[in-house]
Amino acid sequence: MTNLATLDRTHVFHPNTNLAAMQHADPLVLSRGEGIHIWDNHGKRYIEGMGGLWCTTLGYGDEELAQTAREQTKKLSFTHLFAGKSHEPGILLAEKLAAMAPFDASRVFYGNSGSDANDTQIKLVWYYHNAIGKPKKKKIIARQKAYHGTTLATAGLTGLPPFHKHFDVPFDFIRHTDCPHFYRFAEPGETEEQYSTRLAGNLEKLILDEDPETVGAFIAEPLMGVGGVLLPPEGYFRKIQAVLEKYDILLIDDEVICGFGRTGNPWGAQTFNMRPTSITVAKALSSAYLPISAVILPEFLYEPMVAPSGEVGLFGHGFTYSGHPVSAAVALRTLEIYEERKLYDHVRAVTPRFQTRLAALGEHPLVGEARGIGLVGAVELVANKASKTSFDPKHGVGAKCMGSCQDNGLIVRAIGDAVAVCPPYIVTEEQVDEIFDLFERGLDETLAWAGKEGLIQGQ
Ligand SMILES: Cc1ncc(COP(=O)(O)O)c(C=O)c1O
Repeated sequence: MTNLATLDRTHVFHPNTNLAAMQHADPLVLSRGEGIHIWDNHGKRYIEGMGGLWCTTLGYGDEELAQTAREQTKKLSFTHLFAGKSHEPGILLAEKLAAMAPFDASRVFYGNSGSDANDTQIKLVWYYHNAIGKPKKKKIIARQKAYHGTTLATAGLTGLPPFHKHFDVPFDFIRHTDCPHFYRFAEPGETEEQYSTRLAGNLEKLILDEDPETVGAFIAEPLMGVGGVLLPPEGYFRKIQAVLEKYDILLIDDEVICGFGRTGNPWGAQTFNMRPTSITVAKALSSAYLPISAVILPEFLYEPMVAPSGEVGLFGHGFTYSGHPVSAAVALRTLEIYEERKLYDHVRAVTPRFQTRLAALGEHPLVGEARGIGLVGAVELVANKASKTSFDPKHGVGAKCMGSCQDNGLIVRAIGDAVAVCPPYIVTEEQVDEIFDLFERGLDETLAWAGKEGLIQGQ
């Protein structure tokens, strides 16, 4: 039998992976899935506690989505949206997204990934400002620890060092402001509101230092996912938005993780009181059954772009697979299923159990902070609970915990020493208990190991 692990190590260039560590480790080769479970190629079963990469909301093997993909593939496997062509799934999905958006949206521009959609967002900000006669308004402000993708431009928006180092990004139109993480970055005695006020003040100072006439947009995830599941402190977006409005700066809301129910509302913007100018969606848009992303925007952004594109002869941006009909059909069906099966209600119903169990992990000796909302959360592992001292990253304590959970049959994700959990929406209360029982076991094993290695302070 072909050894897939050996072939993998020889031929697959893994994305977002520690290549050095992979040289000495076998990949986890996954071969099938059903509901919230997946199996590896040795027949071992796991709970997919991360919904893949925060994306498989309806679980695996959904009959209706498989059927939709099959039917659309047979009917019309491909046509495009360039130069006057269109197709029913692309049109109906755009109508649905515009109607669902939490602002007065009219237009939808399709892509294939969250990264390319955010790249589109940058280009739209530039095209728009050129069109309205403000050609200097081009800088984009993101936040430290943000994640907005890995294309040349969006890797720069992402505020995490591994996405910059050795790649020669960010480009010089990108700026970063504070990461809003109260547990780590608030000053002693500061309340959440005071902390938010300070961050809004820092943002205003940055904008003034740069010259407001050069700042086009601010991009933010409602909660920062890849940065470690960081929830905005009280009052954060209200105060940040007041600054953005003062200087006529657009707010791009990156809903790639939060969009379509993850935080308990259809949009993260609703959960955290954001008033976005435009929105980026991907992942849950199709429950990750097929790749598709979209930028949803208001008519006031679109309208000024019409005349300049006429002068040039083309709005020169788009992808062969922008609005791929099979992906669009599956996405439309996914959004219908969320409503038909009352999944937004289901997420809200399961959330108390999920968040109670998550909060209980905060009592674990290894956990500095347990944080989350809806069906997403993370625990931050620390060497000393009282002083919040982190482990030296070289010990890979988060990765160790992820490995222990995996050995016990639970897939979670280590982001440094934060360990995230983000299961499919279809998870039941009993399965939530199972997830957290396994998570706890993983933490206990990691604590025992860290103790033996002498990594726990104050022992
Ligand atoms: C908030 C956010 N934006 C953008 C992206 C990039 O999406 P993709 O990996 O589909 O390019 C991600 C991926 O995790 C994300 O979490």
